[in-house]
Amino acid sequence: MTGLLGNGAPAALALAERFALPLLDAAPAEGRYLIWENDQLALAEAGDKTRVVVDFVAGAQAHRRKFGGGLGQPVARAVGLKQGVPLSVLDATAGQGRDAFVLASQGATVTLLERSPVAAALLADGLARAAADAATASIAARMQLIHADALAWLTQTEQRFDVVFLDPMFPEPNKRAKSKKDMAAFQTLIGGDPDADGLLEPARRIAGKRVVVKRPRIAPWLAATRPDFDYPGESTRFDAYLPRKS
Ligand SMILES: C[S@@+](CC[C@H](N)C(=O)[O-])C[C@H]1O[C@@H](n2cnc3c(N)ncnc32)[C@H](O)[C@@H]1O
Repeated sequence: MTGLLGNGAPAALALAERFALPLLDAAPAEGRYLIWENDQLALAEAGDKTRVVVDFVAGAQAHRRKFGGGLGQPVARAVGLKQGVPLSVLDATAGQGRDAFVLASQGATVTLLERSPVAAALLADGLARAAADAATASIAARMQLIHADALAWLTQTEQRFDVVFLDPMFPEPNKRAKSKKDMAAFQTLIGGDPDADGLLEPARRIAGKRVVVKRPRIAPWLAATRPDFDYPGESTRFDAYLPRKS
């Protein structure tokens, strides 16, 4: 199990407790671990300087928030976001929260499910920093993280959402993930989500408008199920499914 080197920081101890992460006294000689440094949580690998941090305030996410194309961004179009029509979205495979952040930036209220304690801790830390920054606080206020396995959560919840968004790891790393060292580290940590097919039907039962599945452009359909419509892209495709009325 991945441990957390908290360096005594209260925020790190709180994350370790919330996500049941074992605390480390020193960096391990090999393997991955979480480390609290520079007032943020990072995923590290022994002997490697690369860090994976969820950052909604600066860097790529900030650039995308300012210049990414607003409602014209592929994920916003696929989900069906429109000016002045706020939707509730369940992102059942939240990962590093990039898609969820785009959707929340465009007015959606997003509930994020993440089952990996390491990914959930990184995400919780990124959301806390977004909530503390004036430029992103109102967006973070529309994002709620739940640490749970969506396979169980979807079948038990009484909640309904306009849209359920699914983006499970695809077993073959796509070209973009391969080209970025930090994304590759995250992908190796999570693995391939081989049980992802089971998400589609329960998602269709709690979605009021549609289920959107993000896939690499050449990947087969989730659960071998033909979408009702799709949004093709250069490297990524969004398959959309209508709700199941039961
Ligand atoms: C490809 S990543 C999602 C990336 C995300 N869309 C983003 O923009 O950062 C897939 C994530 O879904 C999570 N996941 C896969 N199956 C899940 C499940 N059944 N319940 C909760 N999380 C799941 C994985 O742990 C992984 O973090």
